Amino acid sequence: MQVVSSLTELRPARLKLAGPVGLVPTMGYLHEGHLSLARAARSECAGVVASIFVNPTQFGPSEDLASYPRDLPRDLDLLAGEGVDLVWTPTPEEMYPPGYQTWVSVEELTQHLEGAMRPGHFRGVATIVTKLFNAVQPDRAYFGQKDAQQALVIRQMVRDLNFPVEVVICPIVREPDGLAMSSRNAYLNPAERQAATVLSRGLAAARETFATGERDAETLRQIVAQIVNAEPLARLQYVSCADVGTLQELQGTLSSRALLSMAVFVGKTRLIDNLILEL
Ligand code: PAJ
Repeated sequence: MQVVSSLTELRPARLKLAGPVGLVPTMGYLHEGHLSLARAARSECAGVVASIFVNPTQFGPSEDLASYPRDLPRDLDLLAGEGVDLVWTPTPEEMYPPGYQTWVSVEELTQHLEGAMRPGHFRGVATIVTKLFNAVQPDRAYFGQKDAQQALVIRQMVRDLNFPVEVVICPIVREPDGLAMSSRNAYLNPAERQAATVLSRGLAAARETFATGERDAETLRQIVAQIVNAEPLARLQYVSCADVGTLQELQGTLSSRALLSMAVFVGKTRLIDNLILEL
């Protein structure tokens, strides 16, 4: 496995790879969720590139950029274990040199959910993913359903800007007790870690009620809210039952696939989770 940092090293390393080339963009501190993307890429592509970059422009001023967990040696071991061919670890200085002023904004999709709570977040994501795509020129790129809105935003951007990249979305990988894997789970103390199961428990309760025939969007949101609100260490930021394509909030009876999603603070840690309700 080759590891490169600068763009000057990346280009020849990328050119040596046989196609199709798969890209797995990450911010590091890897877990099984990330590794599932690397495995999918490994099984479908001749060349696999992973990037590790804690992208400063997708963090808000009061968010966790400085404390975001990092462990590059461990990440590289894990990626080598998955048979990744090339790892790119760009520097903030090279990605955003002084005077940097070009941005990619996906407009409507980013007005809801995470985009509404985290102004500028998706501008940062779309911009860095554009830069990763331009540098690596992958045939396929792998993203997780864990970040459901991010996956939709990238798909939209690829369509709108004619990137010759196939976007592959992989299922959410969970801990045995249901908690969706996330690098941010590392922030949780033992009591918070226990409390963090409210997200997946809320989704599971809504899914069960949905399975018995409940179709009212507000009722499904309320089921999630009640379970989260019953946990003293958790604070619900939002729960949404939205159209899975447009992310518009649904009212009344569901008539198409819906994305049930939420953001919850557990202590100071902000966690997200989601589920698709198939009609
Ligand atoms: P990061 O949070 O490191 O996640 C990298 C990829 O792993 C994303 O596509 C994310 O959806 C996926 N992922 C995270 N947890 C997962 C889980 N439990 N199951 C399945 N997939 C999971 O998302 C980002 O980084 C950044 O925004 C990035 C796209 C790299 C741009 O900076």
